[in-house]
Amino acid sequence: MCGICASIGNDNQIRNVISGLKTLEYRGYDSSGVALLKNGKISVVKSVGQIKCLQEKLADELNSKIVIGHTRWATHGKVCEENSHPHLSFDKKVAIVHNGIIENFEQLKKQLPNVKFYSQTDTEVFANLIASHSGSNIERLVKASKMVKGSFAVAVMFENDNKIYCAKRKSPLYIGFRHGQVMASSDVSAFGENFDYFYKLDDDEFAVVTKDKIDIFDKDLKLVNKAKALFEKAPFFDDFSEEKCFMKKEILEQPIVLKRTFFKYFSEKIIDETTLTKIKKFKKFHFVACGTAYHSALLGAEYLREFAKKDCEVSVASEFRYGFQNISKNCLYVFVSQSGETADTIACAEMVKQKGAQTLCVTNVPYCTLNNLADFVLPTFAGKEVAVASTKAYVAQVFTMLIFALLISGKDMEEELKKFALQFSIKALPDEVLNSALGYSKIFFVGRVADYVTSLEGALKLKEISYINCIAIAAGELKHGTLALVDDDTLVVVVSTREDLKEKIENNIQEIRARGGKILLLSQFEHHVDVEYEIRLSKFMEMLMPIESVVQLQQLALSFALEKGFDPDKPRNLAKSVTVE
Ligand code: AGP
Repeated sequence: MCGICASIGNDNQIRNVISGLKTLEYRGYDSSGVALLKNGKISVVKSVGQIKCLQEKLADELNSKIVIGHTRWATHGKVCEENSHPHLSFDKKVAIVHNGIIENFEQLKKQLPNVKFYSQTDTEVFANLIASHSGSNIERLVKASKMVKGSFAVAVMFENDNKIYCAKRKSPLYIGFRHGQVMASSDVSAFGENFDYFYKLDDDEFAVVTKDKIDIFDKDLKLVNKAKALFEKAPFFDDFSEEKCFMKKEILEQPIVLKRTFFKYFSEKIIDETTLTKIKKFKKFHFVACGTAYHSALLGAEYLREFAKKDCEVSVASEFRYGFQNISKNCLYVFVSQSGETADTIACAEMVKQKGAQTLCVTNVPYCTLNNLADFVLPTFAGKEVAVASTKAYVAQVFTMLIFALLISGKDMEEELKKFALQFSIKALPDEVLNSALGYSKIFFVGRVADYVTSLEGALKLKEISYINCIAIAAGELKHGTLALVDDDTLVVVVSTREDLKEKIENNIQEIRARGGKILLLSQFEHHVDVEYEIRLSKFMEMLMPIESVVQLQQLALSFALEKGFDPDKPRNLAKSVTVE
């Protein structure tokens, strides 16, 4: 995974690179580093931990007009300074930062028998390959890239050369320009404000940049004339900027996200009739996604089945990728992803396209790899999501896919959705519920159909930020095995928003209580069973209840993490965007 950020300008670029790296921490945050050029010589500073640790290490006297930087999520080699980027070549004349995976790095190392390697990474060999070639610096980079198999976005610095060199294959790389500064980064968000335009490098393209010039080449070193892309103004959410963590801020932003989504799809009508007509023709829809996006895809499929009577299937991307698939041109493949950069999801979209089928991508980041593979794009309007645990992006996906299903079905429910979007508010989690729930170390989440999806999402949130071992299970499946785990120390969170399934859920609650399990019930209506704890939900149309209920579970997870003193924005072992397999 990892994020790279490099900058060249009129003055000291360390601050610009550090602030760029901070916006890329969602790609990994276990260690970071920078290389800078001072009087023609390369110096490297690295640190284990978040970017703030690197920042503390960067002494004031260090400054350079050329800096390349990296934030890491370990793939090859443990978390330590030796494995952190930038990596240097054996002669210390080439420094490189890399995002991606060099699949043939072991074979390549054997081709450099006299080189001593200092790290366990796949990247170090790239620096040494460049150093081992002759020619101009861009020629050396191109020659080395041709030997490498796998994915890479790299920024490279050479001794005594006041330029930054870039190369890209399969991992994203953007180059932004403003007067007196050029920056290369894994994501345009690192450029910050006031950049004039940027280029998106395509696979096997190379760039040579100075502070006021960007030259882009193909693999034969012919100059490429690329179109400049302009920055889209990001949705601006400043109401909750005082919140202590991003996850809280993002939970609180959800009412705004719903209003904005409604406005985009109904007032601005961002999907036109021609597109809808084309999409309606598909007989089948196959959703593919990972993690939270997979959960929203489960709901998206349910909405399309219910309202548009479409045949739908849903797969986890890492399974879809290696399972046997009968790709059909009558099926529209729907890829759901907040970032649009998730490696498994992208690989599935590529596979589907190669087999001649069409794709619809539901993404939250406008300039992302997945959108380049899309025949149709269904944007979500969550705004930038920073916390690793996805909250507002999930709610945006669910609401967007509900609107989409209704548009495909031709049902006019604009007024009902508008009422919901305008009325929806965040209700704080009752204190007594939180205080009691905190006493349990074994927590299950159960529900049926859409409520089961909410349970899956609630359990994922709790796991990823509070490290509690919890599972979600379809309520009807309990007695097929999991009930064996229920005892006096078990809390079962029951989500029950389908009135027609109330009695079934009541039976499940009885089964759990008979084994000593304690119940936390989330529902908008009365149940005729005793429960230990209850969260009464606001009553909305049934199709909207997954949004109302999940927000309570997001808050439950956040409160657990904060109570236990964990950083909810940067949970251990995880990264926001999983850009490697
Ligand atoms: C959610 O809280 C996650 N951290 C994770 O499951 C995420 O949803 C998943 O990695 C997919 O990411 P994407 O939406 O950017 O593709």
